[in-house]
Amino acid sequence: MYTLGINAAYHDCAACLVENGQVVAAAEEERFTRIKHGKRPVPFSTWQLPYHAIDYCLGEAGIALADVDHVAYSYQPSLLLGEHDGKASITLPLEPSAHNGGEWMSPWDPLFLSSIVNAPRQLASGAPHHLRKRFAGVRHDGPFRWHFVEHHLAHEASAFLAAPFEECAVLTMDGRGERATTSYGLFRDRRYKRLKQVNLPHSLGLLYEALTTHLGFLHSSDEYKVMALASYGKPVFAEQFREILKYRGDGEYTVRPMDARDWEERFGPARERGAAFTEHHMNVASSLQIVLEETVLQMADWLHAQTGADTLCMAGGVALNCVMNARVRDRGPFRNVWVQPAAGDAGTALGAALWIDAQARGPGQSRWTMEHAFLGPAFSDDEIEGVLRQAKLHYRRAGDLSTEVVDLLVRNKIIGWFQGRMEFGPRALGARSILATPLDASMQQRLNTIKDREDFRPVAPVVLEDKAAEWFVDGAVSPFMTFVYDVRSDKADRIPAVRHVDGTARIQTIRRDQNPAYHDLLQAFAARTGVPVLINTSFNTRGEPVVCTPRDALESFYTTPLDALAIGPFIIEKEQGAA
Ligand SMILES: [Fe+2]
Repeated sequence: MYTLGINAAYHDCAACLVENGQVVAAAEEERFTRIKHGKRPVPFSTWQLPYHAIDYCLGEAGIALADVDHVAYSYQPSLLLGEHDGKASITLPLEPSAHNGGEWMSPWDPLFLSSIVNAPRQLASGAPHHLRKRFAGVRHDGPFRWHFVEHHLAHEASAFLAAPFEECAVLTMDGRGERATTSYGLFRDRRYKRLKQVNLPHSLGLLYEALTTHLGFLHSSDEYKVMALASYGKPVFAEQFREILKYRGDGEYTVRPMDARDWEERFGPARERGAAFTEHHMNVASSLQIVLEETVLQMADWLHAQTGADTLCMAGGVALNCVMNARVRDRGPFRNVWVQPAAGDAGTALGAALWIDAQARGPGQSRWTMEHAFLGPAFSDDEIEGVLRQAKLHYRRAGDLSTEVVDLLVRNKIIGWFQGRMEFGPRALGARSILATPLDASMQQRLNTIKDREDFRPVAPVVLEDKAAEWFVDGAVSPFMTFVYDVRSDKADRIPAVRHVDGTARIQTIRRDQNPAYHDLLQAFAARTGVPVLINTSFNTRGEPVVCTPRDALESFYTTPLDALAIGPFIIEKEQGAA
């Protein structure tokens, strides 16, 4: 039985294919179309489905859409359609001036909802011409069965059905779903129960997005930059944010409505994109970050008291905030905290598919556990070599890849690392990564230059799992870069490049069974230098999605000052002095 999960309502459109409880493939559309986040979260793009990601997932299983039993779409339009649900027509505005607030929150809601209601028709007949073959032979009503899955249920399922626990409390937080912005639940005895939700307009995600806009970044995209900026500031505006975001007890919170003028009145002029960062910007970012952490800790306390569970699983875009996650881990009431690596909306494709698959198969069936995130496309050695030959490049086949790449790393070379199946979720985890030595303090700056990133952005380390505790305080299993850890003070001088200004590092731990080539490289680097740590950052440049294909890797490699590329078993080095 095949279940196809689709996220398309807003941004980070993605697809996932589940076969009898096992995830066969999952990928974001942006990796194929090369449009960051796939599309912007506006009602004018809601109709667009992640056709390329769907095509890839079906191809990975060797099937066509006609072979799919269930399609799970991670949004439930019925929750917003009200009396229009099930009707044949709806009135769309030609332009919104007549909108009087009426029954819709936005004048474009009818357009947005119409696009979602018609998603089955789009899937059946809207695929672009070059992909039609795999989409042929279906109608909007079958042979697959279509399911709309409530957005936060899809986030929740991406946590409790992917995490390796039989029982867990679940907390999801994002910008918005249909109405919910936060949800609490309990997974126990293979059943899931929603305990509470917080609805619009109160939203932790939308508040963080509004600050992202105020600070001159792109909202629904650059929130992680605000988080990084926060660590340079002092929370001098925390009281002001406590007036805006108030925890009310019993898991409830409120957010005061604020428009752009309100932000400027309270926190000064909005920063222009590209303008310099001042201490003031850092202090504002720090202040919201602190108040977010305080609030989520109170929410976690309430959820723990309600459930008595040992373990908390989180998802939703706010759970990409690895500094907040670390606070919940360190100061919260749960013994374990697990975060879905694709915590943003892409992960709802996975969650929706797992949920519908689990419903269809019934309780007591085998379960899948997300041991790693390598769920995307891979390319054979022959395919890679074909691309290298066609481009008339000088390359060599490595005798021992680990040894030869370590030879480059210890000479402070920065390496594009393209190996195996691409990661699902926003983080590069050793399949489409840029790697460098952490021993040289200047490496953070060099990498930010290569990636055309802001100077304040940290770079993160990967560490052998069994060595994590030696290098990072309470360093535990953390395969998805979803938490920060303090660098051990006696080790900080050895790995200056990965220690952020606040003394933390957003680590990835790696075991051999998760990614043998990556693990062996780290082990070889450790054998040579005594340090089981490398810098790992995503293989892309500013504003670009992470590379997917060998051709993407070559384009990125030759348009940035990367020194060498390890692609499959092949190594390409740029000529000395060519730069
Ligand atoms: Fe979401």
